[in-house]
Amino acid sequence: MRLASLALVLGASALGAAQAIGAENTEDPEHENTYFNDQKVPPLLELNSDNYEKEFGLSKNLVVKFYSPWCPHCIDFAPTYQTLYEFYYTQSVEDPKTGKTVPFEEYYDLRFAYLNCIAFADTCTKLSISTYPQVVFYTDGKAVDAIKGNKNMTLESGLIEKNIKDQKPATRPTELELPEPGDLASPAHIAKNGKPKKSGTSSKTTTGEETVVLEKEDVKEKEPAKAKEATPTKPKVDPWAAANVKPAKATSTPNPQGISVSLTAESFQQLVTMTQEPWFIKFYAPWCHHCQAMASNWQQLAKEMKGKLNIGEVNCDAESRLCKDVRLHGYPTILFFRGGERVEYNGLRGLGDFLQYADKALDICSGIQDVDQASFEELEKTEDVIFVYFYDHATTSEDFLALERLPLSLIGHAKLVKTRDVHLYERFKITTWPRLLVAREGRPTYYNPLTPNEMRNTRQVLTWMKSVWLPIVPELTASNAREIMDGKIVVLGILNREDDEAFLSAKREMKSAANEWMDKQIQLFQMERQDLRDAKQLRIEEAEDRNDQRALRNAKSIRIDMNRSDRKEVAFAWVDGTFWQRWIRTTYGIDAKDGERVIINDEDNRRYWDQTITGNYIIPSRTSILETISKVTASPPMLKPKLTISAFEKVFFDIRMAFTEHPIISYGGVVIAVLFGLRYFRGRLRGGRGNFRISENLPVKEIREGLLGNTANGKTD
Ligand SMILES: *[C@@H]1O[C@H](CO)[C@@H](O)[C@H](O)[C@H]1NC(C)=O
Ligand SMILES: *[C@@H]1O[C@H](CO)[C@@H](O)[C@H](O)[C@H]1NC(C)=O
Repeated sequence: MRLASLALVLGASALGAAQAIGAENTEDPEHENTYFNDQKVPPLLELNSDNYEKEFGLSKNLVVKFYSPWCPHCIDFAPTYQTLYEFYYTQSVEDPKTGKTVPFEEYYDLRFAYLNCIAFADTCTKLSISTYPQVVFYTDGKAVDAIKGNKNMTLESGLIEKNIKDQKPATRPTELELPEPGDLASPAHIAKNGKPKKSGTSSKTTTGEETVVLEKEDVKEKEPAKAKEATPTKPKVDPWAAANVKPAKATSTPNPQGISVSLTAESFQQLVTMTQEPWFIKFYAPWCHHCQAMASNWQQLAKEMKGKLNIGEVNCDAESRLCKDVRLHGYPTILFFRGGERVEYNGLRGLGDFLQYADKALDICSGIQDVDQASFEELEKTEDVIFVYFYDHATTSEDFLALERLPLSLIGHAKLVKTRDVHLYERFKITTWPRLLVAREGRPTYYNPLTPNEMRNTRQVLTWMKSVWLPIVPELTASNAREIMDGKIVVLGILNREDDEAFLSAKREMKSAANEWMDKQIQLFQMERQDLRDAKQLRIEEAEDRNDQRALRNAKSIRIDMNRSDRKEVAFAWVDGTFWQRWIRTTYGIDAKDGERVIINDEDNRRYWDQTITGNYIIPSRTSILETISKVTASPPMLKPKLTISAFEKVFFDIRMAFTEHPIISYGGVVIAVLFGLRYFRGRLRGGRGNFRISENLPVKEIREGLLGNTANGKTD
């Protein structure tokens, strides 16, 4: 599906639209000033889609940095621009006419600003910004000069000097002693006054980690006035009561005996469907070998969940009516129920897998956590993907009830929280409520629809959630392989998690490449849409000039159709090269021992690329990946693909080995059952006992077909 990429770009453009309201530049001296040359420097002016036109009119000259918070060059460039600004801000000029000393910005009627091209993609498109970082010098609202890329202080300063010299000749010194990025004072100031006393903020260092912080600060720096106004004053009646709507709480102690309760049609209705209590239930048949294989794990699970979660089982031979009503499509089927809602468990059937799921399910059943900035940041340390629901005093209980229907489907995928913390409104630039977004490692993607009906449409919201609930660079596992690989071009890092340092650095490079790729897609989308809009406008104007009513109607009815279905989505993932080494060797002919590699896989066409244009292997480096991916996605591809080579039996054997060899996963029992099971089921099928379609259930399919099966050879029977 291309849904994900579309959601991505739509989400981004929606942000631009939502931003159109508010976000005035307020100066809050409390926590945002920096110091340079012992002088207080106010924070940089943040432009947005709402204020930029006005700000262009407020001074003759405006120097603007365009950037993305995720582009590595932008992150590297941030301290240079900040120090450049601080340096000029604290300069002064002796006016040759009056002899008075005037602050630099006042004398040249010049200000510094910055604009986030991801949050305000529309605006960057309107201003024809096609690359970042980029510093543009505007005079009277017109771009007169620009420097693209991460350039040094000397060059950036040159841009300013050249343009102000043109405006006020003979006012500039011939030689300027510039500070280094991150400095707290200019060389001239230090020569005169020694090192500055005031220490700067954390933004004043140039190490990689710290500058990331700076960029984040940059984004937050200015508080949307709108969000401020919306800060509720303490009312007498608690207007947030609605936020605490929870499904009726279970009253009795769950699972008091630590057993899996055998349920009949009657007790099922009484205990499960008619109550709000959570239940984890397996539907099985006594003759089914997968069921037998998991039986002891299920008993153990029930024991572990004593006093915590109800565990049940339904024998479908005895309760065929009930099983029919539940609409099973295979044995065993494991379902999680709560308050008349259900979700199917699709994971592996080890005890550890069950327990992990049960814990997550319990967590979710205790209601959607309300977070503030601090608890959200805490959560970010452990969760890669977090859905955040922003609400305010006007959010109704209907909204919250709709929200409470979501978590069940998210179990095991992502976390959902809600918030009314103004700091989080600011961080994610929320100006309308309620609003839903997903933060993947801090990077927001917005649920686009805003009408109450669309916000409460569980199905629509879930469809969107499913398109964005994987991390930016997820680990490929047996249970998510299809979801990640099918229908997409996937940049797959083959990494070795045992080599800590190399592993972390490779993952960082992959994330950085993924982020840059996403930024680029957003930009492309915006530009294409703008082109379509311009073309439409042109036709309208032409028709108006000719006074041709029919042509005018036609022109006005042109739909801006951003049909991207002809384009393949690019996703990123990594796979454990040691754990899956046999699969990797047989599929791509790569030995994980030879070091970390990157494969670009096109699953639909059963082909892949593993070399850059220069013929070297693709490695986990941002440059190597980005360079190659654009060649691969060109149509036709500018690089010759290779065909995946795995054969069914080979993969099957390999996966079995992988499963039994690896110490942290103990699916041995499952695998043996599969081997038996397959033979057994064939017999069963021939014996005509197959009321249910067998075998499409995980993990059988995954194990049998390897991470990605093999449609060419992988017969389903
Ligand atoms: C800045 O970059 C230019 C061009 O790349 C170079 O000539 C110059 O030496 C650099 N200046 C400093 C201070 O690094
Ligand atoms: C998008 O375009 C393709 C062909 O390019 C077409 O088959 C498809 O129906 C279009 N989808 C929509 C939603 O217009």
